[in-house]
Amino acid sequence: MEKVLIETYGCQMNFADSEVVGAILKTNNYALTDDIEQADFVLINTCAIRDNAEQRVRHRVRELKAQQNKRRQMRIGILGCMAERLQSQLMSEEENVSFVVGPDAYRQLPSILQQVRQGQKAAETELSQTETYADIEPVRLASNGISAYISIMRGCQNYCTYCVVPYTRGRERSRQPQTIVDEARKLWQQGYREVTLLGQNVNSYNCDNYDFPQLIEDVAAISPDLRVRFATSHPKDLSDKLLQAMAAHSNICRCIHLPVQSGSNHMLKAMNRHYTIEWYLERVDAIRKYIPDCSITTDVIAGFCGETLDDHQATLDLFRQVRYDYAYMFKYSMRPNTYAHRHMHDDVGEEEKTRRLNEIIKLQGEIALENNQKEIGREYEVLVEGVSHRNKSQLFGRNSQNKVIVFDKRDAIPGTYRRTIVESCTAATLIGKLAD
Ligand code: 5AD
Ligand code: SF4
Repeated sequence: MEKVLIETYGCQMNFADSEVVGAILKTNNYALTDDIEQADFVLINTCAIRDNAEQRVRHRVRELKAQQNKRRQMRIGILGCMAERLQSQLMSEEENVSFVVGPDAYRQLPSILQQVRQGQKAAETELSQTETYADIEPVRLASNGISAYISIMRGCQNYCTYCVVPYTRGRERSRQPQTIVDEARKLWQQGYREVTLLGQNVNSYNCDNYDFPQLIEDVAAISPDLRVRFATSHPKDLSDKLLQAMAAHSNICRCIHLPVQSGSNHMLKAMNRHYTIEWYLERVDAIRKYIPDCSITTDVIAGFCGETLDDHQATLDLFRQVRYDYAYMFKYSMRPNTYAHRHMHDDVGEEEKTRRLNEIIKLQGEIALENNQKEIGREYEVLVEGVSHRNKSQLFGRNSQNKVIVFDKRDAIPGTYRRTIVESCTAATLIGKLAD
């Protein structure tokens, strides 16, 4: 049997896709391996969202040349968003790459590997209006046996002006709900205790008028001891119906990732986000009304085209107002062929972008620490996940709000729920003890 190693970069969606790729290859008589010395094929599942994500992959590809010189039969292929964006150009730029396969073409991998084995090169990057891989049961590559991803939809057609995803992942399509609920139930029966429903914009999930609130309620109904998470929510589509569904099921986790991107209406318009800050804050109020203990997290971009100091201040003000528990913070990175690249000017200098980003990071660090300090003394049910990376005599788990809590092991077992009391904290972690 030939052996395949899959390396994954990028978002949760990419990790879920790698699990589909693994399943397709296994059913076609390839074995999966973690050992580069054994791999006949190395598949790199890539991200194109910022230039540094692409540079990391190119660096890795070049690093693999040494392995290829040792073992001449080893072939490298690029999957995912970078494959879709660059197509066969990538093979001329990186001569040790033998094939590129886009996100909707993974069913063709077995035949592509055959071609490549015979010394040919191959590029399959056609996008699909319908492919959801619904019938493929993913191999759980990244899994701890407790928590798993379920991809519920693919693609995106919001066309935020900075973003490459609509071009790399194609049009939005929703997977048949029954296949999703069945997958979640099977995971539950196998002992999993947490599923994360994934899509670029889960709030626009729609399959013959069956919508995301219905889907999440049906998944939550599998068992009150199955935690259900989801990502990502676009603020323009976050409905009261979803918040009501969450409020009605305590096993739908109290955490909403609500990327804001900027605190300035001027920037939101330039980004084509379809909401104003007033709308966004109203949605935040609605979350806090329906689910008072819900944590809110976000994504933000510093230094988008035309961002003034006032726009940047508006982002800092927004952060002070919402007080996020966590934020993914980025410098704007111009992506070729997006609307912003074609029609706008990337006019905030690199140094100034870094300065603004660092200002946001510093503020968010203070807010996260203050938020965590308020947790001291509170009691939470934690799903125990495993041994703490820092201290082998401690375990870690997460509460419903997705905050990590570290505590002394005692008799706790990964995969079970335990009550913990928070005793201290850092900006990133709560430190507690078992309550019983
Ligand atoms: N530059 C910087 N950040 C970006 N994101 C998307 N496109 C870009 C870009 N061109 C960020 C957004 C998005 C997250 C996944 O990545 O904040 O929500
Ligand atoms: Fe995920 Fe977007 Fe990166 Fe593609 S470009 S891997 S969709 S984050």
